[in-house]
Amino acid sequence: MKSLTEQLSDILGRAFESAGYDPTYAAVRYSDRPDLCEFQCNGAMAAAKAYHKAPFMIADDVLAAIPENDLIGRIEVVKPGFINIDCADSALADLLKAIGEDENLSIPQAEKADTVVIDYGGPNVAKPLHVGHLRSAVIGECIKRLKRAVGHEVLGDVHLGDWGLQMGLIITEMKERQPELPYFDESFTGEYPAEAPFTISELEEIYPTASGKSKADEAYKAKALDATYQLQIGNRGYRALWNKIMEVSIADLKRNYSNLNVDFDLWKAESDAQPYIPAMIEDMKAQGILHESEGAMVIDVMEDTDTKEIPPCIIQKSDGASLYATTDLATLVEREKLFKPDEVLYVVDKRQEMHFTQVFRSARKAGIVRPETRLKFLGFGTMNGRDGKPFKTRDGGVMRLEMLLNDIYAEMEKKISENRNVKEEDAAATAKIVGLSAVKYGDLSNQATKDYIFDVDKFTSFEGNTGPYILYTIVRIKSILEKNDGPVGPIISAASPAEKSLMLKLARFGTVIDEAAAELAPHKICAYIYSTANDFNRFYHDTRILTEENAAQKASWIGLLELTKRILEKSIDILGFSAPEHM
Ligand code: ARG
Repeated sequence: MKSLTEQLSDILGRAFESAGYDPTYAAVRYSDRPDLCEFQCNGAMAAAKAYHKAPFMIADDVLAAIPENDLIGRIEVVKPGFINIDCADSALADLLKAIGEDENLSIPQAEKADTVVIDYGGPNVAKPLHVGHLRSAVIGECIKRLKRAVGHEVLGDVHLGDWGLQMGLIITEMKERQPELPYFDESFTGEYPAEAPFTISELEEIYPTASGKSKADEAYKAKALDATYQLQIGNRGYRALWNKIMEVSIADLKRNYSNLNVDFDLWKAESDAQPYIPAMIEDMKAQGILHESEGAMVIDVMEDTDTKEIPPCIIQKSDGASLYATTDLATLVEREKLFKPDEVLYVVDKRQEMHFTQVFRSARKAGIVRPETRLKFLGFGTMNGRDGKPFKTRDGGVMRLEMLLNDIYAEMEKKISENRNVKEEDAAATAKIVGLSAVKYGDLSNQATKDYIFDVDKFTSFEGNTGPYILYTIVRIKSILEKNDGPVGPIISAASPAEKSLMLKLARFGTVIDEAAAELAPHKICAYIYSTANDFNRFYHDTRILTEENAAQKASWIGLLELTKRILEKSIDILGFSAPEHM
């Protein structure tokens, strides 16, 4: 399905051509001044230089050559040479009908479905989720849905951090507390207990305690490092205990992510990449790209065009241990083997950008990915508190995700109960739905790469550019549709400027999603639905829909509401939240 701007550009292209000008000047876009016209073509201004002619003369020539068509309602030349266009009401109504009948609601589908792996979430096992992990989950989930919406095959991988020092710390602390456990008995050959020796809350206390001790006590730290090493080389008891840590931790993570409406296709972890490391390093050696530097084995990744220093990528430390980059490279080996992805996209804090530059360059140099495989890094900014500093608890500690969400849900429940549109027993469940929209929209409406301020009052407001405002609009539409007893559509020409503006907005949907997907820019979807919701509310304010006596007019408005609802719902589904029935 061609968008309005594409169709208009085609018509103007033919006019440019038959008037003797290059049709590439004919691009039509939505107008910057909707008060003057709906669409504009500025090509005559650009063509003026090439043809040494006044722009308005070119524009006049073009106007005279416009072919017969049903699409243009009004077209005029405005000095010095703009071409202003309004589309014909009936053509717009027809287009909306076609959008309503399209299973993708006009979202263009990729000609070739790419296989895309998105690496997001990235929680560390046994450490509680904190707000830093929130952005990765929220943005990654949205990008996954967005890429699917435009027709790609997407695999979301949580890529658990399960192989680092935190595991050694927990093992060490468990050994101090319960040395009698069979995991620490080297002569033990039986079956380890099925039951884990800790609950998730105990686990979450053990890690910070151990981490604190290791900072204060060198000997303790040495034990933890050794335990990490023993685990990595396959100590049977440690491996079994590690399995228990994973079990307990993953169950808790799954619960947390499902509350966030975030879901992963793959629950892969750093440890899954370990078997690929030895052969990978051998291969790098054979290719002669590894060399020694200060005892470590590294790959040089500086390129001639670099304007700043890119340090070599460290693959192996002097003691033989592998590092974060080693694991990420081996993970790419595995992904290549299992999925042959066309693209691997990492949604990670932008402070890790250098790491990914090193990893991507090393992967290319070592031939781990095919030359055509795209490796992309979407680095997001920091979520700050109202003081502009990284988000903290009231007493200055690291804010846990659950606490933050509970604050939001409580605030939302208060508001919803005050509104009295929801039955008392539904208030808590509704507060969760609306609260999630507040958190996700608050994040996604900002450009991902920028830092933003997490402002509970602003994000939970039912007015302004917020998730709850969008949901409120959807709920309002649902309630009108519920009360309607007549037919739905067909949509006829707009009866007011507010209605036309809404119709033009809906006609734009597919292009907006397409652009947001190409640019990895969820904030563009937010901006779009915010302005669509505003247009809808303006139209609704001016229009008595349910009491309209002209049956065709009423049916058209109901059809328009139905389409608005579907487009808003599809949009928030891509953003990763949903609307309640009432609020
Ligand atoms: N676990 C890491 C962290 O908490 C994030 C992992 C990101 N993904 C990756 N493939 N390195 O910082």
